[in-house]
Parts: sequence; structure tokens; C-alpha cells
Amino acid sequence: MTTHRHPRVLSGVQPTGDLHLGNYLGALVKFTRLQHEMETFIFVADLHAVTQWQDPKLLKSQVREIAAAYLAAGLDPEIATIFPQSAVPEHAELAWVFNCVARLGWLDRMTQFKDKAGKHKERESVGLYTYPVLQAADILIYKATHVPVGEDQKQHLELTRDIAQKFNHDFEVPDFFPLPEAVIEGPGARIMSLRDGSSKMSKSDPSDYSRINLTDDADAILQKVRKARTDPEPLPETPDELKERPEAQNLVGIYAALEGRTTAEVLTEFAGVGFGQFKPRLADLAVAKLSPIGDAMRRFMADPAEIDRILATGAGRAREVAAPTLAEVKSIVGYWAG
Ligand code: TRP
Repeated sequence: MTTHRHPRVLSGVQPTGDLHLGNYLGALVKFTRLQHEMETFIFVADLHAVTQWQDPKLLKSQVREIAAAYLAAGLDPEIATIFPQSAVPEHAELAWVFNCVARLGWLDRMTQFKDKAGKHKERESVGLYTYPVLQAADILIYKATHVPVGEDQKQHLELTRDIAQKFNHDFEVPDFFPLPEAVIEGPGARIMSLRDGSSKMSKSDPSDYSRINLTDDADAILQKVRKARTDPEPLPETPDELKERPEAQNLVGIYAALEGRTTAEVLTEFAGVGFGQFKPRLADLAVAKLSPIGDAMRRFMADPAEIDRILATGAGRAREVAAPTLAEVKSIVGYWAG
């Protein structure tokens, strides 16, 4: 990567299903922090959403809900550019060129497609298959260098770098696209299901008890933490001793991430304490941290016109950056400009 390149953050969340604690700590809090460090573009991935069926009557309000969560978590539209992906047509146009740069063999290796498609890939949309190519276009249309995402997106970032590199090479435009890096580390990087410490907290888990949603009220949060799976041992003195105890490790990790402390610090306070005592403390902390976010989301959702105004302004700013990149790409490829 060229070192003199202007650092730029880009990320997005799909408007499918409710946001949960894992999204909050792993994505939203990270976006909010990064907006003060680098120029930041955060979008709502509604083009990606329709790779699987979405009710057209609901999609706009799902997009507003993600935007409301961004704002509630502290993304500041005066600082960060916040927009719906479908309002910036340059993403889809660049994706076509990238469809012709990426190789079938590269996409055949994508594990997220295999996980989502399961046994019947012939029944999935073609869009689900080329999903990571559109993701590469989302990132590279802004020549972004830093992409805050979860662990599960690492492979899509590798593909993005492969596409950037092949484009730069094939068209003999060295350094035209940067080779962007995933930003994964951070306290919220591994928030696991409350029912199973070995699988990620996920919107698609059939059990609502597996996750804490950003819109859960205090009572729901208390119930879910109380029912969270644990083991009978008290909390140890060091993080090392949590290695073989995934559920315990997850709950301590959530506590630490919510407080902005390390697991080691939390254990210093709670060593020797059992879950009967620890869980109510965790529940109180989760309620204290999340209920203002849920309240703020509801306030934003009560004024959809204001959200739409913010998204329209963001889309305008995004296009100012995306359009010149696309114009350059068209000229590089030999397309008609216009
Ligand atoms: N695939 C990402 C996810 O499911 C969402 C996404 C789409 C994205 N385009 C992106 C994330 C570009 C980062 C950058 O989490």
C-alpha cells in the first residue's frame, strides 16, 4: 500500500433484522470512535440486503432503523458521512467492472456464501454469490484504507485486496486503488451467543435469548442475562483461566467491553465471585449502557423526516467522492464517459 495515501474509513451494516449487542460493540462503537481519527463513510447496505428476499414495503424503514442506531450510538452526521447504499449508484456500477476482474475461483472459496446458501446453492440469487464483489466496490469507490468489520468479514477484505491488486495490475495503473485493511481488534470483537459460547451473537439465531437487542427494554435484558448459559465455577483471577470456559469468558468480555475496561481489570474486581452475583451486576451495567441507546433510537425513529434529511445530505457528500472515482475507472477501462 502507498504510505502517503489519505486514510479513510468505510463500513456498512445490512438493514436485515434487529441490531444487537454484538453489532453495537463490534461495529457502532468502533465507527463512532474512528470518526474522530479519520475521514469516515458509513452506509446502510440495502443493495446487499436484497441478495435475500426483503419486503419492499418494509425496506425503507429498515434502512432508517440502522441509520437511527448509527446516530444513537454517537455517529455525528456533521463529522461522518452517513448514507443509504442505493442512493449512490456508483457502487453498483463499479461492482460490474469488478465482476469482470474477480475470478470465479476466488468467489468459490467464500465461506459466507457457503454458510448462507447451505445445501441448496442453486436456489440462491446470483447476487448472493457476487455479494463480496459489491462489497469490494463499496470500499474501493471511496479508495478507503480502513474497514472496521467483524472477524467474519476478513475473507471479504482479502478478496477486496485481490480485486484492487488485479485491477491495478491488469490496467497498468499501479496504486490506483489502495489495498484496504480490516480493522477487527477492539473489546467488542468477539461477542458470542448467550446460549452458546462457541457461536457468534447473531441476528439470524432463531433464539432471541441468544442475544441482547438494542431495542430490548430493561426487563428483557435482565431476563436474558439471568438465563445466559454459564458454568458453576466462580470467576478466576486471570484471563488465561477463562480459556476453556467460553460462556464465562463471553460474559466477562461483555462486561469489560461495556465498561471500556480489559478482561484482566474486570477479573481483578470479580475474582472468586460466582455467576449468581456477577449476572445481576452485568445486567445492571447492560441496562445502564444500552437503554439510553434504545431510547435515542426510538427518538430518531419518531422523526423519519429528519433521518431522511441526514441520509440525503450524506448521499450527496458520498457521491462527490464516488463519482470522480467512477469517472476515472471508466476512462481506465475504455468505457464511454457520460
Ligand atoms: N458484508 C458486511 C456484513 O455483513 C456488510 C457490508 C457490505 C460491508 N458492504 C460493506 C462492510 C463494505 C464493510 C464494508 O457485515
